Amino acid sequence: MLRDLRSEYTYGTLSEQEALPNPFRQLERWLAEALEAQLHEPHGMTLSTVGPNGRPSSRVVLLRGLDERGLVFFSNYQSRKGKELEANPWACVNFWWPPLERQVRVEGRVEKVEPELSDTYFASRPYDSQIGSAASPQSQVIASREVLEQRVAELKARYPRTVPRPAHWGGYRLKPDTFEFWQGRPSRLHDRLVYRLQPDGGWKIERLAP
Ligand SMILES: Cc1cc2nc3c(=O)[nH]c(=O)nc-3n(C[C@H](O)[C@H](O)[C@H](O)COP(=O)(O)O)c2cc1C
Repeated sequence: MLRDLRSEYTYGTLSEQEALPNPFRQLERWLAEALEAQLHEPHGMTLSTVGPNGRPSSRVVLLRGLDERGLVFFSNYQSRKGKELEANPWACVNFWWPPLERQVRVEGRVEKVEPELSDTYFASRPYDSQIGSAASPQSQVIASREVLEQRVAELKARYPRTVPRPAHWGGYRLKPDTFEFWQGRPSRLHDRLVYRLQPDGGWKIERLAP
């Protein structure tokens, strides 16, 4: 067994009275508090997808947009996650903000965002990030780091100022049907509130046992 590093969670509470009726507003509130607390990468979220063989895989991506339509992130459409989402659009993201003792899980279907949004976002990125994502065949085996550096050099020569968005790179939007907000509490009696999308478009809130 690993060393027992038990922490008592005492930062806060999440009651039915405190929770906002709309889960998007609740997530915005917790994100704002994570930003305010100056956490490192508060927008980092672990995205899980499932491959055709039923095997899940997870990786961190950055949340780049949030509104009632869903959670937006950007990636390579030909990456492992891209291929898995192509075959099975169901996905789950998880945020974990240790100093706030909070976790959020969001589940739903993922779709590609409008190409115009991907264009706008790609154009807003720093030049070196544009080159990096255009150069990298994300998730594919490459012979060496030099292969990547060679591609970067070629692309910099071809596009000295702005890089066109590669067709295989763009945004995804996770359209949630379930959110779970988790606030650590003492003695493992944590607060867990789940929001489930109802057929009429409203959200039903229920408490889960920790
Ligand atoms: C903090 C952090 C943020 C990241 N943000 C992104 C991102 O927004 N988009 C992305 O494609 N990869 C991002 N990555 C890299 C991914 O975790 C992952 O390595 C990559 O997308 C390839 O994943 P895949 O092979 O499962 O498709 C990030 C990694 C970390 C640690």
